[in-house]
Formats: sequence, structure tokens, C-alpha cells
Amino acid sequence: MSKIIVIGSISMDLVMETNQIPNQGETVFGEQFSMVPGGKGANQAVAIGRLSNERDKVYMIGAVGKDAFAEQLLMNLKENQIDMSFVGTVPQSTGVAQITLYEKDNRIIYCPGANAKVSTNDWQEEWDLLKNADLVVLQNEISHETNLAIAQFCHEHQVKVIYNPAPARKTDFELLEYVDFITPNEYESQQLFANQNQEAMLKAYPNKLIVTLGEKGSVFYDGNNIKQVPAIKSEVVDTTGAGDTFNGALAYALANQLSTESALKFATLASHLSVQKFGAQGGMPTLEEMKENKAYEKEWTFK
Ligand code: RIB
Repeated sequence: MSKIIVIGSISMDLVMETNQIPNQGETVFGEQFSMVPGGKGANQAVAIGRLSNERDKVYMIGAVGKDAFAEQLLMNLKENQIDMSFVGTVPQSTGVAQITLYEKDNRIIYCPGANAKVSTNDWQEEWDLLKNADLVVLQNEISHETNLAIAQFCHEHQVKVIYNPAPARKTDFELLEYVDFITPNEYESQQLFANQNQEAMLKAYPNKLIVTLGEKGSVFYDGNNIKQVPAIKSEVVDTTGAGDTFNGALAYALANQLSTESALKFATLASHLSVQKFGAQGGMPTLEEMKENKAYEKEWTFK
């Protein structure tokens, strides 16, 4: 049983699949266009929602605009068992990500719209909700000020926070002392720690800094040794949202008392399954789908 709160972006992903990337001033033909739910915050919430059972609670705090995208995105959150009592509507366009899918990998331009309006300024009930959470999850598609205020509050009230510094920004460093887990990918870790070598950065944050390395898995320092959790080889269809699936599954496992290493293995399996289908949320597994995989471990029991 867990109560997890994700605060972050809710966006519509406009995905163009192409065999050619245009040069400046050039027009090329795409293969296929799709609109699918996305936004790093919503993706992470959905990843947790899919793994959850009826005793778990997943809340999303965020904002959508007043447009047709908002309706579809809210419906999608509801279908994935996310409590949306704290998702606001603001007079803006809903967040949008323009995604180019080329050679099974993505390039993203993100326009925050309503997501930029997520702010703690008028919060009352939200603070009470946070105080009673098992875990709070943050990423970087809402403002730094909002993230910082939440991280400081959670730190003061001893509520654990996973901070996924994606996309990287210069101010990320200010949050680190207030959060419990930091989950950059390799590129984001270089941005965050000004090109320090990996061993030095991991050792500076024992049991706290987890660097994801794509096909090489993930690494953290447990206080004695640097531990690497290998990735599982996948038939990749689309890597979009793999990091969000990883963070969502990690949150679910940690909130349910798995050790860091075991939670990382659980998250690795979830992201292995997610990249085998199209769309950020398309391949996010349910717990039943996880259990069908031979890499599922007996000790992963969830009440
Ligand atoms: O992490 C993937 C997500 O980031 C996409 O769903 C898109 O919304 C982008 O901002």
C-alpha cells in the first residue's frame, strides 16, 4: 500500500515518425503522425498508476489549459487510476511536446504552456496532502521555484522525494540537499556536476544519486561499493518515456519498501517493457505484465 504524489507536467505529445531529419530550410516527408498523452510528470504518474493496486493512491498535481488537449489528457489520467483533485485548469494552452522519432530514438521540443503555471502560491490542501505522502516525485518540466519550494517543504516534514532533473537546467544543484533520490541520465549528471567523473559524483551522494546509463543500466554508490544494475536487452520500438517509466517504477518500489538495489532492478524491468511499444505511455506495464516476465523477482511483493 502506498501513497505517492507526482507534481509536474501534463502534455500532449505530437509525434512525427520519419526516416529523414530535415536540414535548415528543407522539407522532408514523414512516415506517420500521432498524438499521444505525455509530459514527464503525467508519464511518471501513469507508470505508477499502472503498477498500483486498489489500496494504493497516486495523485497528480499539475495544470492543463482550456483546450481540446486538456480533455483528452485528463481522461487518460483518470483511466490510469490517478487522483486529479489537484490538477488545475488555467487560461493558457495545454503543454505540448513536439517529438521527432527517428531511428527509434527521439528529439523533443517542449512548450510548457499551462505547466509553467504550476505554483505553490495558493496551496493549502496540497501541503497537507504532501505531509502524508510516502513519496513525492519531481521533474524539471515545471518551474524551478515550484520544485524548490516543494523539496524544501518535504525535507522539513521528512517526506521522501525522488528528483528527476530532466530536462537539465543550471539551477538544479539548489535542490539536491532537500531531496532523497536524484535520478539524472548520463548527460544530465554531467550538467549537474560540471563534468566531474562519475565515481566522484556517485561517492558524494551515497544511496542518493542514481545515474541511468541507457543500454548500460544504472549505477549508484551504496556507501561501500559502486553498484551497477544492468539493463535488460530489448527489442526497441520507441524509447520515449523510458526514463519516466523507470522513475515511476522506482518510486512505486521504494514507496513499498524495496531496497535501493532491488527497486532499481524493478524499475529496469519496467523500462525494458516500456520501450517495446510506441508512445511515452504506450508500453508502461501493469504489475501483472511485470510478473509474466522471467526477470520478475519473487521478493517483489506488494501489499
Ligand atoms: O520523457 C518523455 C516526455 O518528455 C514526453 O512524453 C514529452 O512530453 C517530453 O516532454
